Amino acid sequence: MLDNLIPYQYSWPVDDFTGSGLWTTDRTPGQTVAFRTRQMPESFSDLSQDSRWPAFFPSPMCLVTTGDSRRSCLEKVVGASIVNRFPYVMALSFCRQALSSRHHVRKHFMELLERGGSAAVQFLPPGRALEAAMGRILSTDEANSHGRLRDTGLPTSAACESDTPVFDDAYLVYEGRLVQPARDFESQPIFAAPWEDVGSHRVYFLEITAIQLRRDIALGQSQIYWTSLPTWRPDCLPAGGPQVKAIAPRAIYQKSFTPHYRFPAATTVAFEADEFIAGRAVRHLPHEVAAQVERDNDRARWPCFFPSSVGMITCETSDGRPNLMPCGSTTIVSRHPLIVAPCVSYAAINSRYAPRATLEQIRRTGRFGCGVPYLADNVLDAIRYAGNISWQADPDKVRAAGLTVDPQSRTPRLLELPIHFDCEVRRELRLGTHIMFLGEVRRISVREDVSHKRPLQWNPWAGVAPLPSLARSA
Ligand SMILES: Cc1cc2nc3c(=O)[nH]c(=O)nc-3n(C[C@H](O)[C@H](O)[C@H](O)COP(=O)(O)O)c2cc1C
Repeated sequence: MLDNLIPYQYSWPVDDFTGSGLWTTDRTPGQTVAFRTRQMPESFSDLSQDSRWPAFFPSPMCLVTTGDSRRSCLEKVVGASIVNRFPYVMALSFCRQALSSRHHVRKHFMELLERGGSAAVQFLPPGRALEAAMGRILSTDEANSHGRLRDTGLPTSAACESDTPVFDDAYLVYEGRLVQPARDFESQPIFAAPWEDVGSHRVYFLEITAIQLRRDIALGQSQIYWTSLPTWRPDCLPAGGPQVKAIAPRAIYQKSFTPHYRFPAATTVAFEADEFIAGRAVRHLPHEVAAQVERDNDRARWPCFFPSSVGMITCETSDGRPNLMPCGSTTIVSRHPLIVAPCVSYAAINSRYAPRATLEQIRRTGRFGCGVPYLADNVLDAIRYAGNISWQADPDKVRAAGLTVDPQSRTPRLLELPIHFDCEVRRELRLGTHIMFLGEVRRISVREDVSHKRPLQWNPWAGVAPLPSLARSA
């Protein structure tokens, strides 16, 4: 990890579960691994005392601005996520119901965004400018949030496609505008509304209009460093786990996966800039979906880095077996009830974006599980296997991926993983190439060997550094 990222490291849990009275132990006979479980949703009084997330999910963080040359607003967002490929859409969720001092309504930001229709998601390198922006967000209450951007003291310029202010210090900017009603590849209507109210939060869908990337990164002189999985040290292995080791699948197309992501690199796309403006390379995205679609599997990849993690989405098949779909577009969109939202491809565009077996399996059962993966060889092997082989090709996929399913669980709970959310589907949203399932969390399981002495550790920010060879010769 880059040294300047260390101060941003986050550990969960911060204290032990004892004393809360909310967690009970769930032990499967003959099994070495046991879980603490907690029923959800919690009561309003429990929530008002402590509205922190009841369990950890690895979400990235970003800064978001909205407004124009006259009025602006700055917020931080946890879990901004790319949720659809064609059109290229990101989702941002903001609190709309007061739950506690932590979860208060982001009224000004939402009003300004709904009036102006544009926002800029921004990533600043760890350091002084990021500290100044985060400090202002934390120290200025919502009523005065209009002054935040100015009070950071950081220079800004207008975005390329709107008047939304953008930090000059940002190394990466995603400009977006609220989606408009359209039709997908099957001529079905999508985006009847530009946002959806989901529990305590409002989820905005923003079509990406332009991506700005710092010039030195676009030219390959510096790289973005992102670790997409948390670290954790388990105390034990599941008893009788499969001895099958994931074998490199022979799929026509393979989606590679490394949790230590560098951008750009030999294994990523190169950033295709349309122009260079004030130290940044800019790529404009056409509004017409037909002009955006890439049939070639490689060219269909995301055109630039956007931080994401992985949700291990499990479900039950029609013959009662477990299935597993690693899902990078998984995010938490509401605190109350807690809603986990994986985005599952339904479009038949190429091998990369093809209908998933998981889609119909979740629809049929109305539920799914979401496991939290971590940095370990067996978990990485499982992600690479299950993320490239459909259940249609391997009905014993979870075992072949080297993972063990708890026979007592409501949705397939993977014993190797530290945390599992049991979710019931409340709604599904059709987005163009992906279906976003809104899954209300009904039970959370945390392995007993997760504790404040043996925590999950996570960094929600990416870093930037010159290429090692360039740094040496400087
Ligand atoms: C790291 C990683 C992230 C992925 N993210 C997604 C995603 O967000 N949405 C999706 O539909 N597929 C995603 N996939 C692809 C599916 O996991 C893959 O197609 C899987 O084999 C589908 O299984 P199924 O057909 O049994 O449902 C991802 C794969 C990997 C390796």
